[in-house]
Amino acid sequence: MSADKTASETAQGTAAQTGSSTGILPDMPETSGEARRQHAEIAENIRSFNEAYYINDEPLVPDAEYDALFTRLIALESRYPTLKKNSPTQEVGATPAEGFAKVKHARPMLSLANAFSRDDIVDFLARIRRFLSLTAHSPVELVGEPKIDGLSLSLRYENRQLISAATRGDGTEGEDVTANVAHIGDIPRILPEDAPEAVVEIRGEVYMSRSDFQKLNATQSEAGNKTFANPRNAAAGSLRQLDPTISAKRPLRFFAYSFGELSESLADTHWNFIEKIKGWGFVTNPFTRMLHDADEIMAFYEELGNQRPDLDYDIDGIVYKINDFELQLRLGFVSRSPRWAIAHKFPAEKAKTRLNAIEIQVGRTGALTPVAHLEPVTVGGVVVSRATLHNRDEIERLGVRVGDLVTVQRAGDVIPQILGYVPEERPNDSVEFQFPDTCPKCGSHAMREEGEVVTRCSGGLVCPAQAVERLKHFVSRNAFDIEGMGGKHIEAFHDLGWVKQPGDIFRLQADHGEELAKREGWGPKSAEKLFASIEERRTIGLDRFIYALGIRQIGQATAKLLARHYGSITAWRQAMLDAQTADSDALRELINIDQIGPGVAHDLLEFAAESHNRDVLDDLQSELTITDVEAPANVDSPVSGKTVVFTGKLELFSRNEAKVKAESLGAKVAGSVSAKTDYLVAGPGAGSKLKKAEEAGVTVLDEQGWLDLIAT
Ligand code: IVH
Repeated sequence: MSADKTASETAQGTAAQTGSSTGILPDMPETSGEARRQHAEIAENIRSFNEAYYINDEPLVPDAEYDALFTRLIALESRYPTLKKNSPTQEVGATPAEGFAKVKHARPMLSLANAFSRDDIVDFLARIRRFLSLTAHSPVELVGEPKIDGLSLSLRYENRQLISAATRGDGTEGEDVTANVAHIGDIPRILPEDAPEAVVEIRGEVYMSRSDFQKLNATQSEAGNKTFANPRNAAAGSLRQLDPTISAKRPLRFFAYSFGELSESLADTHWNFIEKIKGWGFVTNPFTRMLHDADEIMAFYEELGNQRPDLDYDIDGIVYKINDFELQLRLGFVSRSPRWAIAHKFPAEKAKTRLNAIEIQVGRTGALTPVAHLEPVTVGGVVVSRATLHNRDEIERLGVRVGDLVTVQRAGDVIPQILGYVPEERPNDSVEFQFPDTCPKCGSHAMREEGEVVTRCSGGLVCPAQAVERLKHFVSRNAFDIEGMGGKHIEAFHDLGWVKQPGDIFRLQADHGEELAKREGWGPKSAEKLFASIEERRTIGLDRFIYALGIRQIGQATAKLLARHYGSITAWRQAMLDAQTADSDALRELINIDQIGPGVAHDLLEFAAESHNRDVLDDLQSELTITDVEAPANVDSPVSGKTVVFTGKLELFSRNEAKVKAESLGAKVAGSVSAKTDYLVAGPGAGSKLKKAEEAGVTVLDEQGWLDLIAT
């Protein structure tokens, strides 16, 4: 799959729903249906960005844009909390790539919430105090340390020997890269005698210095190899080499900043932990600092921000962590990130360059995306030559013309953004861009649907660009994941007329096997290999299958929801047909699936209504075994599935802390006592709820009783 095309398509989708280049709308949608629609669309984009970033090491959008979208998701969720279910805000990274052995993390590797302003920092500190029931002025100690722009790594030591190194992966399971870290000098192989013997897991960031990155790229291009977009990608590409002898030649470094499983505690505070592991030979960041309030935090932020261009490694912010481990433990986590830490992001880096041309790309759903070709320029240590312009409105909003000097922004990633042009520098021969009314690939009429900012090619099946993009999506990693069937192959097979629709892939061997083996660049062996990986995918889960169809707005999460809800391909297809009838039970059922709003339902039904789509499905079903999907199991804990009510003054924990803990154990926390209540946890001064619970025969516990129950 071409990363660029996907980027334009997703970026365009994003802009389509937000109507702005940053993807942030100041106001909230008025209806939950609209919120759901926006949420689904942003969530899908975020997931594809995650996949590109974590798995393919090729970011699709600037960090600043990603952060803006993520913040928007969180805002939507705080207004409409049900949207949280199955949201990327509750997940970390992306599922690990195939090819490496998998390592299950003893403790999950999580992510951090972001702060962008002083207000965010003040909120963060206030939240912490509230959660811990501290007064507004009681002191809190924090440690600030640079947020290194690399990849997180977990190192496991047993008997003081390094036994494994794993990437974060999806936070629960990562890739085993033990062989690849063997040559990283910053990582001790053996821990000293004062380290616990049984288990020590040290976590930190693998990165490449800016100077080593420049040298590596120079060598790569001399040898005619692929160069890397930035130091982070170079580090990721180097660490995640299946051949460890290549990793060994790459200059990787490591900063340690946290821990996973420990057989015994190492320190009482983060600061002391850092001191201890420094003594063991780990490299920790020299800019680590103790901080006490928002003023000190802001001063440190400014100081480090000023030093940032001169550092020999990329940092994209500062991480603040509550120093006291006991408080960290009490604060715990809010789904994907700790309540006791936050990442304070630096603004994106900027530069000026010439806009040489604008090219239109056509995506899978026919979206026409303008892509800017720029005079190559270095932004934050990285050469940039292309940027997405999202859509027609964005070009108008920016007012840019071909030939203009433009400001581009990059935040440690590949596809930068154009912020505007410099009016004083506009050349006399600058040319206004004429957005086409026809598709540049098939000549069909291109149009905008009402309320949308995206211009789409109306060619549908006749547009080769759309067909090719759809096929690329079909074979991509989260869909059929056909190894060896890359974007270039799809283009070639499509041009030859061998693969016109997805089912053709599964007839490739029978229909064109001999021809393929004779083609340039192929041989009997490589053709056999491709056919073997195609055969491997003849059996596929319903969720992947639905996702692979590339239906508008149906990303991985929605595909999973549908698969879990309907269970089998037959049930799903029948339901999509039945739901075509307005006022049918099937339609109501579809819309009532949590997270599926009218917009998503509309796109699904439109897909199912087209007879050519049904033909594609029939054809695929004749080639494939599509397996059923079952609903996930519940959390295993003594209070899983139970309903609990907290009342009275709680003294051992705040109401919120109690609620979060209960929910993390699979319990439902209710506000009032009813026949469904299993436990009432009553602190001093409990009144009517306690009375009601006693009358209803509900089990009543005091705080300690509750702690004992959940500890069993
Ligand atoms: S602490 C529970 N400290 O940022 C999370 N993370 O956005 C513990 N990172 O996954 C992470 N520098 O890859 C921490 N000094 C630092 C960091 C840091 C970079 C990365 C890390 C993490 C990501 C979160």
